[in-house]
Amino acid sequence: MNIILLGPPGAGKGTQSQRLVDRHGLKQLSTGDMLRAAVKAGTPVGLQAKAVMEAGQLVSDEIVSALIGDELDAMGEGQGAIFDGYPRTTPQAHALDAILAERGRRLDHVIELDVDEDALVERITGRFTCGACGKGYHDQFERPAVDGTCDRCGGHEFKRRPDDNEQTVRTRLAEYRAKTQPILPIYDARGIVAHIDGMADMDHVTAAIEAIIA
Ligand code: AP5
Repeated sequence: MNIILLGPPGAGKGTQSQRLVDRHGLKQLSTGDMLRAAVKAGTPVGLQAKAVMEAGQLVSDEIVSALIGDELDAMGEGQGAIFDGYPRTTPQAHALDAILAERGRRLDHVIELDVDEDALVERITGRFTCGACGKGYHDQFERPAVDGTCDRCGGHEFKRRPDDNEQTVRTRLAEYRAKTQPILPIYDARGIVAHIDGMADMDHVTAAIEAIIA
């Protein structure tokens, strides 16, 4: 199974991807995570991407499509993928078609999380992750069971993203409206798009996704 999770920043793509990984053994392919890893490692891709990401703009189509192709090549043939934050532009959507066709894969579902943009700023500015294992949390909506200790790995260090401030979030939202939403008709024409209320609580969103992919 190969699924695209679409939605503006803070819609819950990463949160729901982690749950699909846990339940179905799918592989989460987050171009945002790949780019952040490249920035941290100081690779040539990371050096190009850093300022663009901090400004809330989109990294070049060629870079992200190459990252996705490499990740798919490293996966087992039988393992399904969740595309989290990719594709984000029409050229990326066309690139993904070619990348999948070359590897004998096909897209099964495109799921868009519909959200109220004003709530997203609150979600994003409250977000933090475990520095050791990457598990996501939120100051208000998903705190660790024991304050200061990661539920998953027991780590004690947490971090926040440099692009999770209100001004950058507004730019990221505008980029989503202008460049990513226009790709939906490509998949609508194939009859594989489903919309979910991303404002529902996390468990309801998970249940709605499960119903679509069942
Ligand atoms: P990326 O890392 O993909 O960020 P994003 O799309 O802006 O999405 P987020 O990770 O911010 O949000 P999310 O939807 O995953 O929400 P989450 O589950 O964490 O991209 C970052 C940057 O990299 C881009 O700006 C761009 O520069 C570059 N980039 C990446 N991919 C690219 C591409 N393909 N092309 C070009 N450039 C690219 O949830 C947010 C918070 O809300 C969490 O704290 C969570 O606990 C909470 N939450 C989640 N669901 C709920 C719920 N139902 N109710 C209440 N709280 C919730």
